Amino acid sequence: MEVVNRLRAAGCVFAEQEAAVLLEAAADDDELERMVQRRVGGEPLEQVVGHADFAGIRVRLRPGVFVPRVRSELLVRLAAQHDPEVLVDLCCGSGALGLAVRHRRPGVELHAADLDATAVACARDNGIAHVHEGDLYDALPAGLQGRVDVLVANVPYVATAHIPLLPAEAREHEPRLALDGGPDGLDIFRRVTGSAPKWLSSDGILLSEITEEQQSGAIAAVRNAGLDGEVVYDEDLEARVVRARKS
Ligand SMILES: C[S@@+](CC[C@H](N)C(=O)[O-])C[C@H]1O[C@@H](n2cnc3c(N)ncnc32)[C@H](O)[C@@H]1O
Repeated sequence: MEVVNRLRAAGCVFAEQEAAVLLEAAADDDELERMVQRRVGGEPLEQVVGHADFAGIRVRLRPGVFVPRVRSELLVRLAAQHDPEVLVDLCCGSGALGLAVRHRRPGVELHAADLDATAVACARDNGIAHVHEGDLYDALPAGLQGRVDVLVANVPYVATAHIPLLPAEAREHEPRLALDGGPDGLDIFRRVTGSAPKWLSSDGILLSEITEEQQSGAIAAVRNAGLDGEVVYDEDLEARVVRARKS
């Protein structure tokens, strides 16, 4: 009860549920106290307990690694629907998206890549065998060119001016590298789409989450790259995904 009250006083809306998660995760009272202090200090619950439940799987999380969002289940669903033999999770963070697709399609050859060394280490913690570190496609082995059936790229897509409007949890505990997509939020997306044709297989698809305001800019970027694209919207998840393929 005391834990619930402390969480509630700190502004945690789901204090009871969070307390239950902390109680389950802590090995003893000392660890529980450390975890409660971190959570009360504003760190995301998932980083405090070291895992996130996402799209039917549990992934390990390190402090400072992007917490997978519920809405990104749409990316997972669309990726699994395409039934890829080769899947690349670009900008992988913890690797949650690739892992959730592999959970649904166990035979897939999964590659994950990220620029951030902590994210790369976290994806390796999660048992992904092929995790590559570097700037977008520079990280990938050349042998993947023309072989990627699904390229999932949940890039940073918050417009720079909107960063101050994010919840403190994200602003203070997720790296700016994971959030800031430049003036209109599409800087990284444009780079990803620009080189996608070189990496996609003949019927391969690129999947990337965007916002409502970014729809026309994102489709323009897809066309500039010589791809066909559409926006898929899921009302329950309030998620928008660009799905692009070779013309
Ligand atoms: C919005 S997070 C998504 C993480 C993960 N895919 C997820 O959905 O949980 C974006 C990720 O992109 C990575 N990133 C940012 N710029 C990058 C770049 N130029 N090359 C590779 N990864 C990059 C960040 O380190 C971060 O892990």
